[in-house]
Amino acid sequence: GLFKSGWAQLLQLAIENLDGVVIARVEVTSVIAAHKAQAQLPGLANVKNVVAVASGKGGVGKSTTAANLALALAREGAKVGILDADIYGPSQGIMFGIPERTRPEVKDQKWFVPLKALGVEVMSMAFLTDDNTPMVWRGPMVSGALLQLVTQTAWGDLDYLVIDMPPGTGDIQLTLAQKVPVAGAVSVTTPQDLALLDARKGVEMFRKVNIPVLGVVENMAVHICSNCGHAEHLFGEGGGEKLATQYGVELLASLPLSMLIRE
Ligand SMILES: Nc1ncnc2c1ncn2[C@@H]1O[C@H](COP(=O)(O)OP(=O)(O)OP(=O)(O)O)[C@@H](O)[C@H]1O
Ligand SMILES: [Mg+2]
Ligand SMILES: [Zn+2]
Repeated sequence: GLFKSGWAQLLQLAIENLDGVVIARVEVTSVIAAHKAQAQLPGLANVKNVVAVASGKGGVGKSTTAANLALALAREGAKVGILDADIYGPSQGIMFGIPERTRPEVKDQKWFVPLKALGVEVMSMAFLTDDNTPMVWRGPMVSGALLQLVTQTAWGDLDYLVIDMPPGTGDIQLTLAQKVPVAGAVSVTTPQDLALLDARKGVEMFRKVNIPVLGVVENMAVHICSNCGHAEHLFGEGGGEKLATQYGVELLASLPLSMLIRE
């Protein structure tokens, strides 16, 4: 990927600048380690690391962040999958440009074969249900179906599986956090007080089930005026930073409200 070729170029230049070196050829490969998930859970077959992207509140940009995280990891050369676990509002099919009503193949009458788009393996409950089914489902049915989707998808030797979690901190989220072997969670929030309050609950939920919180992504943090370029903090300033400091986690990014991101 871009990342690797960048390193190779830098190293090649540095080595060729050494006295006595005429020409250097550099190849960069990386080994991605599998990190431990919750102690009592076995890992997922074919998946090294599961990363959950979560938010306490809906509409804060969780799916957007999950999709971009998956694409960025893939661009660096990792093998990546994304699982849309937001059964009431699935959106990864649309974000990855998968035509409506595309169904995954079934292998050996047991495994769903994930769809492939933009170099990423994609799986979503939306690929298996029609428009109305999930609405009438209750919590336990939803958790059961999601767990089945997690364990019965034939992922192809992934370095990372990004899970777009359903918003909130209710039973469905707790069940997933307890039963899916997650190496780390990323918490997405907007800087509004209400969203931050819900993000706190999210961080606490992951702590309770011993899933490390990798950090906080503050989304829609600032609006840059397309006329004059001045920055406006629509929802207040420093909220994500405060949350991160309070819980001793990293503020991974502070993303602007941007037309490009929405498109
Ligand atoms: N930084 C941003 N700048 C502009 N638009 C954004 C940004 N982040 C997200 N959006 C837009 O805001 C809307 C909500 O984002 P998204 O679907 O990612 O949120 P979500 O948290 O997954 O929502 P839900 O709880 O419904 O699943 C989308 O239309 C998305 O394109
Ligand atoms: Mg979403
Ligand atoms: Zn302006």
